[in-house]
Order: sequence, then C-alpha cells, then structure tokens
Amino acid sequence: MARLDIVRLGHPALRTPAEPVAETDLGSAGLAALIEDMIETMRSAEGVGLAAPQVARPLQVFVYEIPGEETRPPARVVVNPMVEPEAGELVWDWEGCLSIPGLRGLVPRHPEVRVRGLDRHGEPLDFLARGYEARIIQHEFDHLNGIVYLDRMRDLQSLAFEQEWSRYLQDAQDAAAGRAQPA
Ligand code: NI
Repeated sequence: MARLDIVRLGHPALRTPAEPVAETDLGSAGLAALIEDMIETMRSAEGVGLAAPQVARPLQVFVYEIPGEETRPPARVVVNPMVEPEAGELVWDWEGCLSIPGLRGLVPRHPEVRVRGLDRHGEPLDFLARGYEARIIQHEFDHLNGIVYLDRMRDLQSLAFEQEWSRYLQDAQDAAAGRAQPA
C-alpha cells in the first residue's frame, strides 16, 4: 500500500467530472490497489472520506468511514455510484475537505440518500444512508462531479479556519462524536 498525494483546490482534477470505472477494470488488481491506497491515504490524513479525483485519478470511486464507531469496520467503498436524495428537509452541518485544508463551513445536505453502485469487487450495492453517513456520501459524490463543499454553501459567513472554528464555533456534541472531520 502507498500513501497518495492529495491534490488541493486549484488542481484541475478537482473540477473535472470523473469517468465510470470500465467493466473490464472491475475486480482488477489495479483497481484493488487504488482502493487500498485511497483508504490508507484517507486514514493517514485523518479524513472520513476520499474520492479518486482528490488523488488526481478521474474515476468514479470513493471510500469513507464513519468516525466514532467503536470497532472499526472495513472502510466502505463505492464504485460508479448514483446517489439520490430521499424525502426530508435539508440539514446544515459543518464540513471540511482534505483538498481544502484548514477550513470548515456549514453546508446543507439531504438527511437521507439512496446509493446505488458497485462494491470493490464489482458486486451491486443498493442501500439507504442517513445522517452523517449521508453527508459524507453527498460530499464524496460531489467530488466525482467536480463539485466541492464551498460550492454548496449558501452563505460564506460561516467559513472559518479550523483553529478558530474549534475555539468559537464547534458544537461540543460534534466534537465528542468526532464529526466535521475533512473528507
Ligand atoms: Ni472533500
């Protein structure tokens, strides 16, 4: 496994829509290696999610894991996803991004999404995600479409540097749950 370089805002890979993984590459050693490297990269950067465009690979692949779970399950992997909102009012919460280091902002997201796609072996996935998991998935899915969380903010007044954010703005409950980690 290798740690990959995470590209930052301004790198064209972050603004280029990703291509689906080709059928012939599903289940391949190359894809498996990319996924393992992305998981290692996400963990070493202390992020909760990472999309392939963030490591300058224009493929529809993202990985994520939910913070605060006591026994850490394997990181989740979604290939060639479709993400659709379920009914429910938008929820505002803090987000950060490994490609926009040092900042946090309030972003509205759907409370629940339906995710369809493939797992790391190319087997079909179809599940509902809620709450923080739904937020991470929407953030990562946006990366596959060249969108970053700043584009989703309705009001830049909440944008804050991490240090000031944790001093003045962070909710104690969110801190305990390990939320608002970058993705
Ligand atoms: Ni991000």
